[in-house]
Amino acid sequence: MNHYFTNNENLKSEIRYINYNIENVSLTFASDNGVFSKNEIDYGSDFLVKTFLKNSHIKKGNFLDLGCGYGFIGLTLKKLLNINITLSDVNKRAVHLAKMNSKSNNLESNIYLSDGFANINDTFDVIITNPPIRVGKEILLKLLNESLTHLKDNGELWFVMRKDQGVKSIMNILEEKHKCDIVDKSKGFYIIKCYQGYKLTESEKYAII
Ligand SMILES: C[S@@+](CC[C@H](N)C(=O)[O-])C[C@H]1O[C@@H](n2cnc3c(N)ncnc32)[C@H](O)[C@@H]1O
Repeated sequence: MNHYFTNNENLKSEIRYINYNIENVSLTFASDNGVFSKNEIDYGSDFLVKTFLKNSHIKKGNFLDLGCGYGFIGLTLKKLLNINITLSDVNKRAVHLAKMNSKSNNLESNIYLSDGFANINDTFDVIITNPPIRVGKEILLKLLNESLTHLKDNGELWFVMRKDQGVKSIMNILEEKHKCDIVDKSKGFYIIKCYQGYKLTESEKYAII
């Protein structure tokens, strides 16, 4: 069975174009068979971008769109903010499309084929992702935990996940070592922000009271 994150060179190419308007700017994304949300911008990705723009206090610096697909999240933020953007995906066709879309929208970016952080050595002010759920909980947690170790001091990891995909359980695990906040919710989609922070033990909480 082929998932959107597998490389299937034999899959027929049928390029289609998706127009996207936000804050008086327009972008066009080429998309194709074999990539995530090939016919329209995903609701969760759109909600993530809009929630980030509305709530984040970090609006410049080094950003990474991890699991970029055809580049919607990273390229939209690049268009609207004065950031250095890196995009990465494990899917060759997605990386090819993201490169096409970066060029066609006249946006400067670094785009890498990479399984997680295998080919990414940088650290980032913001890592933003609509993470792959179908890879399973173990790989998903590895991607999110590795993201947290690739943040600069005071950097933030932003991601979107649905309630029925187990967002609360993922948050609980990440919160063993980091702080995570629910920034917003809509139609079962949660926008989560995680950052480095010391979590009090039960006895420390008691000592404060
Ligand atoms: C839910 S999709 C989001 C795609 C895109 N960011 C968007 O919003 O439309 C998750 C993406 O993660 C990619 N992915 C899956 N496993 C990965 C891995 N180990 N390393 C990097 N990217 C991965 C998939 O190929 C897919 O493009």
